[in-house]
Amino acid sequence: MEKKEILFDDTIEKIIEQMDLNQEAPGKEPDRQYWYMKKARQLVREKQKELGRPLTFCVNTFGCQMNARDSEKLVGVLERIGYVEKQEEDADFVIYNTCTVRENANLRVYGRLGYLHSLKKKNPHMMIGLCGCMMQEPQVVEKLKKSYSFVNLIFGTHNIYKFAELVVLALQSDRMVIDIWKDTDKIVEDLPSERKYSFKSGVNIMFGCNNFCSYCIVPYVRGRERSRNPRDIIREVERLAADGVVEIMLLGQNVNSYGKTLEEPMTFAQLLREIEKVEGIERIRFMTSHPKDLSDELIEVMKDSKKICRHLHLPLQSGSSAILKKMNRRYDKEKYLQLVEKIRSAVPDISLTTDIIVGFPGETEEDFLETMDVVEKVRYDSAFTFIYSKRTGTPAAVMEDQVPEDVVKDRFDRLLAKVQEIGRQMSARDTGTVQDVLVEEQNGQDPHLLTGRLSNNLLVHFEGDTSLIGKICSVHLDECRGFYYMGTKVG
Ligand code: 5AD
Ligand code: SF4
Repeated sequence: MEKKEILFDDTIEKIIEQMDLNQEAPGKEPDRQYWYMKKARQLVREKQKELGRPLTFCVNTFGCQMNARDSEKLVGVLERIGYVEKQEEDADFVIYNTCTVRENANLRVYGRLGYLHSLKKKNPHMMIGLCGCMMQEPQVVEKLKKSYSFVNLIFGTHNIYKFAELVVLALQSDRMVIDIWKDTDKIVEDLPSERKYSFKSGVNIMFGCNNFCSYCIVPYVRGRERSRNPRDIIREVERLAADGVVEIMLLGQNVNSYGKTLEEPMTFAQLLREIEKVEGIERIRFMTSHPKDLSDELIEVMKDSKKICRHLHLPLQSGSSAILKKMNRRYDKEKYLQLVEKIRSAVPDISLTTDIIVGFPGETEEDFLETMDVVEKVRYDSAFTFIYSKRTGTPAAVMEDQVPEDVVKDRFDRLLAKVQEIGRQMSARDTGTVQDVLVEEQNGQDPHLLTGRLSNNLLVHFEGDTSLIGKICSVHLDECRGFYYMGTKVG
């Protein structure tokens, strides 16, 4: 197996330095972006000289873990070209990495753009950039062109790797720079990124989604499913481990179908086995699993593993087989419950969490009660509950029998109460035990306390010194307060 060299930050720096700005930008990626990073650095330096102060940026992320990871890539480029991170109010370059999974996410962005406009009037050097899923919707870009012409840069999810190039274009242009691709089969490796936490990191293993659940806009804005080469993933994990990372979160819209599109196909379970071998990595998480693709092989790997965390996020969406069919989920209530049983008997201490949509078109009271029934049977540790949001262009948007708002609201409240009642009971089940905890940060409210995460993803607050941040230590769980614990460090 050909093994490429691990590219550490200082190696990337050397490559950027070696780029020759007197020549044209190379055609090949990622070299082309390294060239543009050097060019951007030059432009930023000139501007700084003119202003007599550093240029500042703020990246604001909406939506899921995928977007959070993408934002780290944006920050990685911006810091490398000389921008300094600041709050939105003090930033010369504000970027919103947007989400469009539900309509209210879009409305929030439009609302905040008004506020950004007022900031821009005070700071004529300010640039505004928009990227992420919402920008992949043609009607959004039309609206921005028409009514938000003060925005400087718009790009989408497929060409985020070109960010350095786009920044150069935006810095050199007085007009709105727009670059949106419909889809791509390209994955560009070895670009810089700046982690939010020194000790944990997301790792993309695949992009896009092929499932076309009938309510969901993701396959339209994130494109077709494509998996990263396992060698590149392992290389990234090894680099992260060498850099002090102990916990990784493998990211994909449907990690269970990882590897199907590779030249040498490989399953997600096989990938996990390889990642487990990387020394220094102590915890492995992944997101999101589609129930239809969750294999026995994966359950086996989870059962045997010392590193894979005792947590599985398994979106249910609805407990009604009729609604699941209309949602195009390709499993029914019985199959989902059987799967849960299989997982629980293999890994008894696993914590299960889920996503549920209420008010999908045609949902009757009986359908809703089926969802409540699954919630009662599975007993999730927690659940994200969503009111169905109509997304233009998806099959569900034109389905008949959209459920009236007051009915949906009533069901939503009943579901939330049930989910919280069960979640509280489930969360408390480890009270009195000693657990491994990855210490994440100093507690925001009480500086004597640290906040750490259990393998099952719950948080625990306990007294301790900040030197423990990033380390795994043993904590006695004294008391559960709703959805988190208070504990005492042992040993
Ligand atoms: N309306 C409401 N919730 C949605 N989700 C995806 N699309 C919609 C929609 N149109 C939810 C699903 C998914 C989660 C990320 O967002 O539950 O699992
Ligand atoms: Fe959307 Fe379904 Fe793909 Fe998840 S699996 S991103 S819900 S289409």
